[in-house]
Amino acid sequence: MGGEVQEKKEIPPLQQLRECLLDRGQPIAKRTHSAFFLRTLGSAEAVSAVGEALLVEEDSALLRHELAYILGQMQDEAACETLEKVLGNTSDDCMVRHEAAEALGAIGADSSVPALERFASDPAPEVSQTCQLALDLIAWRRKQGTSPYATATGGGGKADRGLDANPYLSVDPAPSCGEGSGGEGVGEGTEEMGKRVRDGDRTLFERYRAMFSLRNRGGEAAALELAAAFRGEDNALFKHEVAYVLGQMQHPATVPALGTVLADLAEHQMVRHEAAEALGAIGGNEAEGLLRTFMADDVVAVKESCEVALDTIDYWSNRG
Ligand SMILES: [Fe+2]
Ligand SMILES: [Fe+2]
Repeated sequence: MGGEVQEKKEIPPLQQLRECLLDRGQPIAKRTHSAFFLRTLGSAEAVSAVGEALLVEEDSALLRHELAYILGQMQDEAACETLEKVLGNTSDDCMVRHEAAEALGAIGADSSVPALERFASDPAPEVSQTCQLALDLIAWRRKQGTSPYATATGGGGKADRGLDANPYLSVDPAPSCGEGSGGEGVGEGTEEMGKRVRDGDRTLFERYRAMFSLRNRGGEAAALELAAAFRGEDNALFKHEVAYVLGQMQHPATVPALGTVLADLAEHQMVRHEAAEALGAIGGNEAEGLLRTFMADDVVAVKESCEVALDTIDYWSNRG
């Protein structure tokens, strides 16, 4: 989840973005940026162009999982059919199916519940666990009586909430502890909240709630509590979310921890990919050096992530 280069005044026309996104001859970074521009456009045509590209199964898993993520963030129920199709295709890439399930949770349509229930027992843990998280999120929202858009503060003005501001404008897979019911630990210190994040006896939904609370607090101490969650953890889905959140926080103090994850060849590709994108978001010489080292990685999703991340750094540093 990265490559977000968006400024409204610079957005190319929709047709050009769609063509670039679908053109497999174009560099992956350019296609990824086109997808994020389509997200910023936010129209029904943009949703449909992203969905069209998501269904090209033989295309890059990295790009396609970003497309599923984008559809979740765009929060248009029109995308649910496409996302359910991807989730239901058990021969598709697990990273893409995971992101499709997460997007269905982000959109939060009641009609997605049967598909999410069905794949909550999928043999791939990253898929089954994501479906369970999405179901927990939908159930939590029902309990709150809030709209499906309640976990976003932005998203095209669809948000309507006032509990615990999410400064990142992302629609998250779980609410922070400060939001609504069941948010234990809201008054806890940063260290205690870190322990809550790392407590493997809790459900993933609870751990995610604590994770987003730390993220919303911000600052070095919170970022380092999260970075410590990589150590001794064996749940890949959880670790990839930690890396994603560290990419949002963009704290340079977490570069060494993210570098360790990226350099661990035995780590799940989804975790290494997310660490690469986080390093791209943080930027700086150390992060750039790490990304260059893994630019030719044997794992395609990791190699492509480094490529996209370096391109993102380059984009921002050439803006003067
Ligand atoms: Fe990702
Ligand atoms: Fe993900």
